[in-house]
Amino acid sequence: MTEKDFIPQSNISYPKEGRIGYKAPSNIALVKYWGKKENQIPANPSVSFTLDACATRTVVTFKEKTPADEFSFDLLFEGKPKEDFKPKIETFFNRVAVYLPYLKKYHFTIDTSNSFPHSSGIASSASGMAALALCLLEIEKMADATKEDSYFDKKASFLARLGSGSACRSIKGSLVQWGKHGGLESSTNLFGVPYPHKVHEVFKTYHDTILLVHKGQKTVSSTVGHNLMNGHPYANSRFVHAHTNLDALEAVFASGDLEKFIGIVESEALTLHAMMMSSTPYFILMMPNTLQIINAIWDYRKTTGTPICFTLDAGANVHVLYPEDYKEQSIAFIQEQLVQYCENGHYICDKVGQGAKKLDLK
Ligand code: PMV
Repeated sequence: MTEKDFIPQSNISYPKEGRIGYKAPSNIALVKYWGKKENQIPANPSVSFTLDACATRTVVTFKEKTPADEFSFDLLFEGKPKEDFKPKIETFFNRVAVYLPYLKKYHFTIDTSNSFPHSSGIASSASGMAALALCLLEIEKMADATKEDSYFDKKASFLARLGSGSACRSIKGSLVQWGKHGGLESSTNLFGVPYPHKVHEVFKTYHDTILLVHKGQKTVSSTVGHNLMNGHPYANSRFVHAHTNLDALEAVFASGDLEKFIGIVESEALTLHAMMMSSTPYFILMMPNTLQIINAIWDYRKTTGTPICFTLDAGANVHVLYPEDYKEQSIAFIQEQLVQYCENGHYICDKVGQGAKKLDLK
C-alpha cells in the first residue's frame, strides 16, 4: 500500500451532520521508536503493548457549513474550552486534509477527556490522536460502506501516525508493530499492524503498573528528542540494534521466554535514554527516583526470581511489567517498596488491552 490508497474517491456523498465517539488507549513500546524522517516516518521499527486503562475518550459533533474554505472547530477538554490544544489539532488537520477531503465542509466540536489525570506525566498524544483519527474517519465510513474493516483499521492508524508517530500503535490490541522490518510484507512505515507472528498466551494478559515519579511537563519534548537523532553519533547503530531486538523478540514472543523478554525490554528502555544522554545537546529525563525504582526491581528479581521488569517512556515515570501469574506478589512489592518513590504515592494499574472502541452514544 502507499499513501495514495488512503485518498477517498471523490464521488461519495457525506452526511450533513452527526456525532461520533471513540475511546482509544495509550500504548507502551517494548522496542522503541526514537528518530524519524519527514511525515512521521520512523527511523526504525517498533513494537508495543496496547494498554487498557490509560485511554482518551473523544466525542466529535460535526455540522455542514458554507463556505467549505477553512478548518473550523471548537475544542473542549474535560468539558471546558482548551485554546492551547488547538494549534496541535490545526497542524493535524493540515496533515490529514488530503486523506479526509471533507474536513473543511464541517464545523466540528471536539470534546475530549483522559482516563488518567491531566498532569500525570503520561503522554496523551498517542491515545488522543488515535481517538480523534477514528472519529474523523468514521465520517468517511458513514459515507462509503464498500470498504472493509481492515481498510479502516489501517487508515485510522495511518492518520493517527500523522498526529503523533506512536499513536498509530493505539488502534488495535494487544501487540502492535509499526515500521518496515526485514522482508516481512505486512510491516510498513505507514501504519501499525497487529504483531504478525506467533504470540504466547503469557503476553496477552501482561500487566503494566505505571509509577508516576514526576507528574510535571517533560523538560524536552519527544519532537525535539526525535530530531536530535539526526546527526547523532550512535544513530545508525541504534537503528540496526532496534531491528536486531525485534528479530530476537520473534522467538521470545512465540516461546514465552521471560528471561530473554526482560533482557531485551530493559535494554531497549535504557538505550532510549542513552540516546538522549549522548545527543547534542544532551539531556536526562530520568530522575533519582527512576533509578531507585530500577535498582529495587533488579534486587527483588534477583532475590525472588519473579519475572518482573521495567520499561521507560520519554520521561521519568517507570512502567513495571509482569505476567498475570505474578500479579499478587508484584503488586505487594510495588506497594511495599516502590510507591515511596512516586510523586504523592501515585501509580496507575494497567494491563494489555484490545485496542480502540466506538462509543455507544445515546
Ligand atoms: O509518538 P511520539 O512522537 O510522542 O514518540 C514516542 C516515543 C517513545 O514513546 C519514547 C517511544 C515509543 O516508541 O513509543
